[in-house]
Formats: sequence, C-alpha cells, structure tokens
Amino acid sequence: MFKIGIDLGYGEVKGINENGRRVLFPSLVGLGHDRNSDLFGTDAESMDALHVKIGDEDYFVGNLARKESLAGASVTLEANKINLPETRVLMATAAALLLPQGIMPVHLATGLPLEEYESQKAEFHRYLNNFIATVQFLGGPMQGETRTVRFLDVTIIPQGLSAMQLALYDNNKPKFDEVARPGNLFALIDVGFRTTDFAVVEIGQNKRPMLRKELCGTANVGMSSIYRPLQQAFNKMTGRILEERHIPRILEEGKMFFRGKEIDLRDGIRKARAQVAREIRNRVLSAWKSEADLIRRIFLAGGGGEALVDHLADLHPVIDLLDDAQMANARGYLEAARMKEGREAAAKVGEK
Ligand SMILES: Nc1ncnc2c1ncn2[C@@H]1O[C@H](COP(=O)(O)OP(=O)(O)OP(=O)(O)O)[C@@H](O)[C@H]1O
Ligand SMILES: [Mg+2]
Repeated sequence: MFKIGIDLGYGEVKGINENGRRVLFPSLVGLGHDRNSDLFGTDAESMDALHVKIGDEDYFVGNLARKESLAGASVTLEANKINLPETRVLMATAAALLLPQGIMPVHLATGLPLEEYESQKAEFHRYLNNFIATVQFLGGPMQGETRTVRFLDVTIIPQGLSAMQLALYDNNKPKFDEVARPGNLFALIDVGFRTTDFAVVEIGQNKRPMLRKELCGTANVGMSSIYRPLQQAFNKMTGRILEERHIPRILEEGKMFFRGKEIDLRDGIRKARAQVAREIRNRVLSAWKSEADLIRRIFLAGGGGEALVDHLADLHPVIDLLDDAQMANARGYLEAARMKEGREAAAKVGEK
C-alpha cells in the first residue's frame, strides 16, 4: 500500500510519504474567495498559495488563510479536533499533497496526544476509515490537479511514541548500547505550538520499550505561550497592541517596522523563550520528581524543541535534539506504517 504519515498539529500540519515527499503548512483554514487581486507578489504555485476546493466549498489553507481570509483565520485550539470542519480540510489537503497521480490503496499513519489516545482512538479510527474527500487544487504546488483522498488502512499511534521509536531504533536495531539494557529509562519531550507532550519508556526484558504511563503527560504550554509576553514587550515599546497574525514573521525576523521606524524585538523574544522553557521544565520535572535522575537520555522533538533547545539545557545533562525535530512525529508515523505492514506480511508467510 502507499504509505503516508501525517501529524496534525495545533500550529502546523506535517506530512511525509513513502517516496520522501514532505509537506508543512500552518494549521489554518479560511473560506476561499476570488483571489484575482490578492495574489500580488505571491507565486501561485507556492505553498503560500494553497487554495483548494473540496466538494462545493473552497478554502484557503495555511499561510494563504493567514493572509487573505476576510474574517481572519484563527488557530483552532480545541482539544477534540476530530469533529471540527477544519480538521477535515487540513487532513484532506495534506493527504492530497502527498498522493501521487492515479488511484491506489493508501495506508495513513497518524497520531493522537497521549492523554487523548485512549478516549479518542476508536472515534478517530472510525472517522478516518470513513474519510473521503475530493480535493481540487486551485492554487499551490499542485495547482490544476485533483486527488481523491480515502484510506484503506489506518494506523493511529500515541504522539511522541513514534518519535521515540525513531530516536531509539534504526530498523529495529538499537541506536545506543543503553537501549539493549533492561531497566534503562528514556524520555521524549515534544514541544509543539500549543502543547508539550512528555513520555518516558523503560527498556523491558525483551529489549522493547514499555511506556511508564505515570511519567507521561501533556502540558498546555508551547510556542504559542511566547505570544503573550512578546505582545507585552511590544506594547511596552510602542503603546500599541500587536496582532497575533504578525507574530510568526516577527519571530523569524526579530525586527519589524512600526510607524516607519525599525524596532528590535530580539531581546523580548529571547526573554519570552526563556520564560516558556522554564515553565516547560517545571511542568515536566514536577511530573517526574526523583525519577528524573534515573533517565539516561532525553530526546527533544517538535518545532518548539528546535526553538528552545538552548534554554532547556539545564533540564538534564544528556539532552538530544532529534534531527529534523519538527517532522519527527510524521516520520515516526510513516515508520510505524512500514513496521505494521512488515509484521502483517510476516504473519501471512507464517500462516502458509
Ligand atoms: N527551527 C525552528 N526554530 C524556531 N521555531 C520553530 C522552528 N521550527 C518550528 N518552529 C515553530 O515551533 C512551533 C511548534 O511547531 P510544531 O509543528 O512542533 O507544533 P505543533 O505540532 O503544530 O503543535 P502541537 O504539538 O501543540 O499540536 C511552530 O509555531 C513553529 O513556527
Ligand atoms: Mg506537535
């Protein structure tokens, strides 16, 4: 089957297919309108011009939604995303971008936050098994093309565990000596846009990782927590209110023009990051308590992991930022889909 891994984050949608093609766009959806006059300066085939028609409705997705929507696209921040109409648009768009031309059976692997896994897994499975959407691209890298999205097989994994698998094993082979030693503890901290997931596994007698549930959790703190202190810093400097939609660009550039004058927000950004990192550290350590000292290695994932790695150094002496950290879950999902198909193939051979 054609395998794809999709990580629907609160901040950004990340996806990868078995050919290595990747997609990444902000989790924003707005109602589409005629763009004739608006696309000034934007390449109609760039990811900043994602415009799709699904059924009879057309939508702006990602950065185009941020820029163009009349009502102002907002980041969806509800805990149960399954029933939101935006989820359908984001999932359909991401999957369509990852599908090659032609009809073929697709295996989707995706995840749910650890804390919602048990309660939402069955419902999410049903939702994805019944998922069907025809996506027509009116703009973006697949402009002019159409894909029908449906999933013949669906794998749902607790978020973080797939990234952990990726950190510890290479094709089922342990990457570190410690992984082969029963009793050793490893942790993963995934700093996202709205949430930070943390998980701990213990290597079992069979050398497989077992989840230590009492040391896992989700804290409602992430890169979006930087917004408030940054807005306060801006307000202090200018007396004005900084709108949320300008923040991603300011975070990238560190500076902005305000009333013709360039203002430098780098110090405010640094302080806001340090503050969020402290909050994450406190939340994680208060869940781990003295067990924290027994952990061999902590892996850091998520876009926030990349942003905060320097500020989180004092959390533990051995803390590794995963390569390609923001994509770690999506890559882990794809790997899980591969492993599942491998197991199924092996079982079939066994039956014969
Ligand atoms: N290299 C980087 N440096 C700084 N910031 C980054 C980097 N990469 C990504 N980010 C930012 O990190 C934030 C979190 O990214 P990520 O994609 O992990 O969140 P998410 O998975 O959407 O959120 P959640 O896990 O809460 O659902 C994004 O807002 C992104 O802009
Ligand atoms: Mg995430």
